[in-house]
Amino acid sequence: MHHFHYVNGELYCEDVPLKTIAREVGTPCYVYSHATITHHFRVFDGAFNSFDHLTCFAVKASSNIGILHILGQLGSGMDIVSGGELYRALKAGIPANRIVYSGVGKTEEEIDFALKEGILMFNIESSEELKVINERAGKLKVKAPIAIRVNPDVDPQTHPYISTGLKKNKFGIDVESAVDEYRKAASLENVEIIGVDCHIGSQLTELLPFVDALRRLKALINRLEEEGIHIRYLDLGGGLGITYEDEQPPHPSEYAEAILKELKDAPYRLIFEPGRVIVGNAGILLTKVLYTKQTPSKNFIIVDAAMNDLIRPSLYGSYHRIVPVNKFEDRSEEKFDIVGPICESGDFLARDRVLQKSFRGELLAVMSAGAYGFTMASNYNSRPRSAEVIVKDNSFQIIRERESWDDLIRLERIPNFS
Ligand code: LLP
Repeated sequence: MHHFHYVNGELYCEDVPLKTIAREVGTPCYVYSHATITHHFRVFDGAFNSFDHLTCFAVKASSNIGILHILGQLGSGMDIVSGGELYRALKAGIPANRIVYSGVGKTEEEIDFALKEGILMFNIESSEELKVINERAGKLKVKAPIAIRVNPDVDPQTHPYISTGLKKNKFGIDVESAVDEYRKAASLENVEIIGVDCHIGSQLTELLPFVDALRRLKALINRLEEEGIHIRYLDLGGGLGITYEDEQPPHPSEYAEAILKELKDAPYRLIFEPGRVIVGNAGILLTKVLYTKQTPSKNFIIVDAAMNDLIRPSLYGSYHRIVPVNKFEDRSEEKFDIVGPICESGDFLARDRVLQKSFRGELLAVMSAGAYGFTMASNYNSRPRSAEVIVKDNSFQIIRERESWDDLIRLERIPNFS
């Protein structure tokens, strides 16, 4: 469900025509729907209403402080993976005690920052990290609340780059070694064990891998109980998929039902770290046709958005629906490669896509770009990053200005060696 829809052949976000945004803000431009974000959060979070829980939005999916603030107002916590994400979450007004910190490479500076702010929980990903967090907490004279991220070795059946819960992945601690690691943690002075955590991958379209992982975690929690280690938080990560093309992922209510069935009245607080399912279909990338070009083997539509704006098609071969902002019934459809201005053959948004014939100056919308879109954008080819806009009902606001050419070189210096 999302609020991008046609009115008389013209694409709107909520009650605002996208061509108005293109005219006033320019292109390329990310456009998010406030109603869609709100609805997705409420549906996901509400699905677990019968169980004590905290939904911690995965900041990496969409980290604009405007969006984090909206989610925070709805009661969301945050899942962070860097000091930068912690900084953003705090600036967006998220209370530290609603923040969980994942990631395999937390630096000492980042750990200190999180300890001083008093976050809810560190999800520990290695023995060495456990040791370092204990040391840093000792120095700061605080206790670090921790969970161990367990790698349950289940196959999430998704793209290999976004699978994280297999033995061969770099994430977490394998489930067989986890009890030992918890024992070690229990003997440390400056950490307090409060949870168990896992995250097995992203864009999952089946329930079974989630349920498998949960069962393995439950078995672990029982073993820990036998050792006198009590768990208060069970963090099941994120990963629920969305429809980009014709995938049929489980609805959040089915996901919740499958999970809650396994837990009955277990005495923990559940934590979830959803990213994509909240914002993926709540954002689009609005782009303008620069040129069209026919070669002997292909028809190209060259647009002003490129792989630096949305890297998912180039990096994962991901499918994003591309639709015209103005639909014309009498226009023929043809097969096109929709490509950007970057000097790489891998710079494409879609290949061999059947689309209404388009002309220079017309607008296209790249759908389902709200998650891992802007957050993975770069300045490659010295392209300023695009603006971000949020629409609410019949008005819109810029939540990130388009970068300027000055911004591109603002942190650079010409050396003055003699
Ligand atoms: N928690 C942890 C520890 C994660 O690593 C991730 C995503 C999430 C939660 C949120 O997962 P989600 O609910 O969004 O599936 N750039 C890739 C996705 C990478 C996901 C990385 N981790 C893409 O564009 O598909």
